[in-house]
Amino acid sequence: MISRICFRSGELCVTRPLVVRTYTTNDGFYPHNFEHAKCGKLLKSEFYHDKNKNEIPNNMGGDHEANYYTNCDSSVWMRSCEKEVIEPLQSTEITGNIPKWLKGTLLRNGPGNLKVGEYHFQHLFDSSALLHKFGIADGKVTYQRRFVETEVYKRNMAAQRIVFNEFGTSATPDPCHTIFRRVAAIFNPNQTLSDNSMISIYPFGDEYYTFTEAPVMHRIDPKNLETMGRINVSKYVNIVNHTSHPHVMTDGTVYNVGLSITPMGPRYNIVCFYPSRVIIDDSGEEKELSMFDQATIVGGVPSRWLLNPSYMHTFGITENFFIIVEQPLAISFARMTMNHFKQEPMINTFKWYEDENTLIHVISRETGQMVTTFVAETFFYLHIINQFETRDREYIVLDICCYRNPKMLEYMYINAMKNMHGDADYSRLFRARPLRFVLPMGKPSPNTSPKCNLITIKMVHQSLKVFRDVDGGSDCKTDYKINDNEDDVKYNDKAEYWRKEHRSVLQKKSSAHRLPDGRILVKPELLCDVGCETPRINTDSYLGREYRYFYAISCDMDLDNPGTLIKVDTLRKTKKMWSEKGVYPSEPIFVPDPNGKNEDDGVVVSSLVWTERETQVGLLILDAVTFTEIARATFDTPGPVPKCLHGWFSLDK
Ligand SMILES: [Fe+2]
Repeated sequence: MISRICFRSGELCVTRPLVVRTYTTNDGFYPHNFEHAKCGKLLKSEFYHDKNKNEIPNNMGGDHEANYYTNCDSSVWMRSCEKEVIEPLQSTEITGNIPKWLKGTLLRNGPGNLKVGEYHFQHLFDSSALLHKFGIADGKVTYQRRFVETEVYKRNMAAQRIVFNEFGTSATPDPCHTIFRRVAAIFNPNQTLSDNSMISIYPFGDEYYTFTEAPVMHRIDPKNLETMGRINVSKYVNIVNHTSHPHVMTDGTVYNVGLSITPMGPRYNIVCFYPSRVIIDDSGEEKELSMFDQATIVGGVPSRWLLNPSYMHTFGITENFFIIVEQPLAISFARMTMNHFKQEPMINTFKWYEDENTLIHVISRETGQMVTTFVAETFFYLHIINQFETRDREYIVLDICCYRNPKMLEYMYINAMKNMHGDADYSRLFRARPLRFVLPMGKPSPNTSPKCNLITIKMVHQSLKVFRDVDGGSDCKTDYKINDNEDDVKYNDKAEYWRKEHRSVLQKKSSAHRLPDGRILVKPELLCDVGCETPRINTDSYLGREYRYFYAISCDMDLDNPGTLIKVDTLRKTKKMWSEKGVYPSEPIFVPDPNGKNEDDGVVVSSLVWTERETQVGLLILDAVTFTEIARATFDTPGPVPKCLHGWFSLDK
């Protein structure tokens, strides 16, 4: 009997067959993924691994009778770009009217190619970074796309094999790479770590850089998407990784959080990149200091575990505080070392502590020191939506897209995505719920009962304009549980079950309680009854400030149309949605109308791909107030267009 993991229970199962499909092969099982924190045993994944070619066969094994999420087409993620578009391509068709004030550039980053020669990447996050550009001017739109010429891209292309270990794919063994060279390479990480920066793109001053969690960024020419250079941030400041989502402030200052290895252990440090400036050096000469030259650690907190720092994809910033959410998904240093010798993918280094709380650290922007730490129920997250201090400074409000656990990372293996229609659990794992935590900043009396809710405010939106608009809050007797158990609900009833459940849960409010040991436990409230991911806000004016709206993509595969864009009103807990059959929009980016007055005065831009027409790409423009389409440009391109991840819009001044 072969031991396998039951994805439903998460336990090692040696006696009964898996509920989900099995991938038995002559090569056996490929061991990786999360270590079971309870028993410390290594979990073995079911994902297929062909040692010879990394082939990705269609419909391996699986429950062929089941057919879930029939409206969901994951193939849009798995396309490989076969031809770049260097010269601007004019749109085939433009419908509607593009606002006259909307002139600028939408840059987007994401997975571009899952193949290297005859080899295939196995995880979506390993796909070679591909940039897309939509140029908008005078009512016309152009499109370009180009691969980021990372070191790993160039070396893969030259060798025609997978040279570096990626997030979920092992490097193809090099017959010339002896054990002695592996030992030597551990002292020179640049030789072995992938720099595939395919997650996001952000401006540093007037320069644009692509991001992943490795501290290596690639500078991109926004005109033609050419890769202009490579910056290793760890050469400027003591960090070994950083988040893929820095915060760009209105004055051009950029903040990010990186992991530093210090004599006292790992530490999450906030790095400030001040705008470039000219100084007079000791010899009296003018010298320009770049943003990287001025990279400075301005605050931070130590990791709670000496050998297992937390994985972090985003962080928060308010007027007076940084917020670091330390989730119990950790990077195991021991595994990292083992991985290096065993040539295993990065995902092996993750360790999920399912019985540990998620911690929310609040750090003073003035002193850089930790002010307080809140305790939350165990959850996994990638994206923080926004955060702000209430007007009376008594509370910090923190909105996050939360998951019950990080298993969705496993389910983004290409084989798992191809087989999702046979897996009743697939949708549940991806259903990120937008949750609001309210953090009370006052110190409660030691005599405070754990039953007492420390949140006494009726409404966190305290701006006078909003107060006039809305009635008082509902009662605060109950709270929302992240880990509700839906296992007893039959599959066919689950989508409706959650929507009914959410409708009542939406009425519930956040709470906070002083635990007997003095820590404060915060319990969230639900902001929207549809799963939301890749959230965006009116960043220019509302980053870190009291805000009302966010925009997101649906992550509910059991929706009638899984490719749905959502606008959420966090005040009223209502939503507007946009969708079109067979169309998959990207992360919706809000662009403020320069003459607008209200938070949502502007448009939302999103790139489109089609399930039926894989070589077509489009730019969608929605009125952000009504969330209805006002214009669209479509392009016929020379080859398949994969769906992208994150982007940045720059409005021409
Ligand atoms: Fe992200």
